Amino acid sequence: MRLDKLIEKQLKTSRKQMKRLFLMGKVQVDGQVVYQENKNVDSRIHQIDINGQRLFTNDKYYLLNKPQGVVTANKDNLSTVFDCLHTEDYRQDLVAVGRLDRDTEGLLLLTSNGQLNYDLIQPKKKVDKVYEAIINAEVTTKDMTIFAQGIKFIGGATCQPAKLEILSATPYESHVRLTIREGKFHQVKKMFLATGKKVIYLKRVAMGPITLGDLSVGAYRELTQDELLLLKDYFR
Ligand code: URA
Repeated sequence: MRLDKLIEKQLKTSRKQMKRLFLMGKVQVDGQVVYQENKNVDSRIHQIDINGQRLFTNDKYYLLNKPQGVVTANKDNLSTVFDCLHTEDYRQDLVAVGRLDRDTEGLLLLTSNGQLNYDLIQPKKKVDKVYEAIINAEVTTKDMTIFAQGIKFIGGATCQPAKLEILSATPYESHVRLTIREGKFHQVKKMFLATGKKVIYLKRVAMGPITLGDLSVGAYRELTQDELLLLKDYFR
């Protein structure tokens, strides 16, 4: 949560009073005076002291193994990723960090921390997204080179260099792992289409330092303390 919002909400200050606390050096995070009003904090990984008083946040961070057939949207006629949550875990302020297509499976973070969501999906933050895919043709080392150079979409857009690994390949089907740092619409599918190949199954297995592990399809859990600490660098 942003520090300025946290102070206003919990200490019930006016905007002016909150700003004064910053100006007077009364706002400390992890023992250091901070002046950045929009600093993103979570009391599970930051010590937040305002004028000597410790403050606590209440944001939620879930790791979902998104099943196929549900849409990444807050509202839809079809089932959404939020329908995967138990009623007691649902909050209206939860958002999905990035978007997975309806037929894509795998790692999706859901959080009430809007600032973290924004910072994780910013292309300039260069957060690695790792996908495993089944392709309807033989993926070759030539494809690895083309992906490394930056795929050009049929419409003209150029992708940043991506790391393509071949896990297995036959003339009819290949299993690959692909690491990208952007999140263009249908990006992985379009990258393979640009090489004349089709993605027939797609699963996201990692985002930044967070990995899907053995969470079963459709299941979700809260991020652990260690996982939140791994995300600390992304709290601007
Ligand atoms: N790329 C795609 O083509 N689809 C997704 O769901 C995610 C990345």
